[in-house]
Amino acid sequence: MNKRIAVLLSGRGSNFQSILAASQSGALGGHIGLVISNRPGAGGLDIAQEAAIQTALIDHQSYATREAFDADLAGVLDSQSPDLVVLAGFMRILTPGFVSRFAGRLMNIHPSLLPLYPGLHTHQRALDAGDTHAGATVHYVTGELDGGPPVLQAKVPILSGDDAEALAARVLQVEHQIYPAAISWHLSGRLQFVHGRLYLDDELVPPTGQQWESS
Ligand code: GRF
Repeated sequence: MNKRIAVLLSGRGSNFQSILAASQSGALGGHIGLVISNRPGAGGLDIAQEAAIQTALIDHQSYATREAFDADLAGVLDSQSPDLVVLAGFMRILTPGFVSRFAGRLMNIHPSLLPLYPGLHTHQRALDAGDTHAGATVHYVTGELDGGPPVLQAKVPILSGDDAEALAARVLQVEHQIYPAAISWHLSGRLQFVHGRLYLDDELVPPTGQQWESS
């Protein structure tokens, strides 16, 4: 339980909530010491405050440059020496300097079957393409947007009559399962990144991440 996690978010914080629940149940092998939002009024801040977790608001609108914002963000994070920085609906692109400072301990969840659909509007794009499945991917963050090595991926079916909202809700359910699982793998040292390859328990992780089997 001594491993420390810091969470960065911008919105409602349902992924953060699922990670919090896993930490409280002891399933995570670590605890959330800090939640930072770049947006005032983010729902995730209320969840953190209710759980008596330290919060910080670093409003990107108060900064002239991305670099200045990221420098303050990194400073606040460094004061906590987190074992893992978790992006949970954090709607800011991070600078290369920030990403390299936290390399190997910076994770994100993206609501698509990466490498499909990096960026925004993933559900609508999957629907427009006529895909049969959608899903979510937890990955380590590198300088390439949504392009870092996938750790864990879950698929859900696309059903006839789905709109983006219905599909997003189905995907979100699996997000809440895979993010805590991937974080616990990281914290327990089961993931190793060696010479550009990711291993789980010394086995090579497939290029789209370990496939999630729902229980
Ligand atoms: C999720 O869909 C996540 O995949 C994406 O942003 C959304 C955040 O939702 N990165 P929440 O704030 O965790 O509810």
